[in-house]
Amino acid sequence: MIFGSPVHAFNLAPAMNAYLNQIPSLQDKKIACFVTKGLPFDSTGGNQAIKQMKNVCRALGGVVIGTAIVNWSMGREKKINQLLEKFGTIF
Ligand SMILES: Cc1cc2nc3c(=O)[nH]c(=O)nc-3n(C[C@H](O)[C@H](O)[C@H](O)COP(=O)(O)O)c2cc1C
Repeated sequence: MIFGSPVHAFNLAPAMNAYLNQIPSLQDKKIACFVTKGLPFDSTGGNQAIKQMKNVCRALGGVVIGTAIVNWSMGREKKINQLLEKFGTIF
């Protein structure tokens, strides 16, 4: 399974958080998570949002096997291609 979300206000987007939290179980599912973000600097929510996604998925019994952060405003195409390559090898 792959979950993707935008970063909102330095965190996982509330809609994605709500969506993940209403899933009854992800027991033993292999999961990759990615986030998209607008700000080009580190420490503007990407790592925090990934951490939040990982925590929810793990709490539901999922096994997170890959993550990626795509900057939407800078080098987007390259990052998307890297994500596809990375996720393509782990499933
Ligand atoms: C309400 C809101 C809050 C946002 N907060 C952040 C943020 O904290 N850090 C960041 O890098 N981008 C932030 N962004 C930019 C989004 O992450 C970016 O627009 C999104 O990943 C690209 O998808 P979209 O085309 O659906 O907006 C924010 C966007 C919105 C609308």
